[in-house]
Amino acid sequence: MDMDKGMDMDMGFSAGEEQWRAHSGTLRQVVRQELVSRQLAAHLPDLPPRRVLDIGCGQGTQALGLARRGHSVTGLDSSPRLLDDFRAAVAAEPVEVGDRVRLLHGDAEQLAGMFAPSSFDVVLCQGVLMYFPDPGPLLDAIGQVLVPGGILSLLVRNGDALAMRPGLLADWDNVERAFEGDSYLNRIGVHARADRLADLTTALGRREMRVRAWYGVRVFTDTVASDAALPDAETLGAILRCEERAGCTDPYRRVAALLHLIAERR
Ligand SMILES: C[S@@+](CC[C@H](N)C(=O)[O-])C[C@H]1O[C@@H](n2cnc3c(N)ncnc32)[C@H](O)[C@@H]1O
Repeated sequence: MDMDKGMDMDMGFSAGEEQWRAHSGTLRQVVRQELVSRQLAAHLPDLPPRRVLDIGCGQGTQALGLARRGHSVTGLDSSPRLLDDFRAAVAAEPVEVGDRVRLLHGDAEQLAGMFAPSSFDVVLCQGVLMYFPDPGPLLDAIGQVLVPGGILSLLVRNGDALAMRPGLLADWDNVERAFEGDSYLNRIGVHARADRLADLTTALGRREMRVRAWYGVRVFTDTVASDAALPDAETLGAILRCEERAGCTDPYRRVAALLHLIAERR
C-alpha cells in the first residue's frame, strides 16, 4: 500500500480494527502492553485509589490492570466491538474489580463536553493520538478533565525515528518517505500520524502539563512478524527485561517505535 497519501487521508482506526483484534496476545502486543504497564506503575502507586480515564481504551488491557490494583476506571471508546471485548474480560474478573470499571461508548473528539473539568486523577491515551490529524483539540480536552497534579500517560508513534521500521525491513521507498514527513502506514493497515518528542513536550507545556518522564516502547521487537507468538517464559522474561532497559536508556529509547510520555498537570 502507498504510504504517502497526504494529510487529508482517512486515518480512522476502524479500518484496522479486525487486524488489531487478531493480533492481541502476539509478541509485539505483549511487549507493548507489558512495557507500558511497567513504565506507568513507576508513577502510579496503588494507593490512594485514583479516578482513571482511559481514552480509546479498546480491549482494556491497561484499564483492567489498574482496576485490579484498586483504581476506579472509566473506559471511553468509539468501537462497540472492542468495548464488548473489554466487557468480556471484565466478566471474568472478581465482582469487586468489575465494580470499579465503567465503560462508555463515544468519540474522544467530544471529550470536553462529556466530563466536568478536573474529573480525573489519571488519564491514559495510548495508541490513539496517531489517528487524530490534529492532536491539539484532544490535548486541550485532556488538560481540562485532568485534575491539577494529575498524571497523563500518552503513547504515540515516534516521529523522531519513523524511518527505523521500514529501514530494518529493507523497505527503502518508505524509508525515504519517512524522513520527509510524519505519516506512515501502520502494521494494522491504517494510515496514521507520528509525533515528535519535542513537539509534544511543547504542546503539553502550553496546556499546563509538564513531561515528567518519557520512555521508548519496542526497541528490539518492533520488526518481528505481526503474528509472532510468545516464546517460552524464560525467553519472554529476557526480552521484556532488555526492552525495559532500552526503553529508559539513551540512545536506544530515542529510536523506539513508540514513545510513552508521563506528564503531570500543573
Ligand atoms: C490501537 S487501539 C489502542 C487500544 C488501547 N488504548 C491500547 O493501547 O491497548 C486504538 C483505540 O482507540 C479507539 N479510538 C480511535 N479513535 C477514537 C475516537 N475518535 N474516539 C474514541 N476512541 C477512538 C479505537 O476504537 C481503539 O480502541
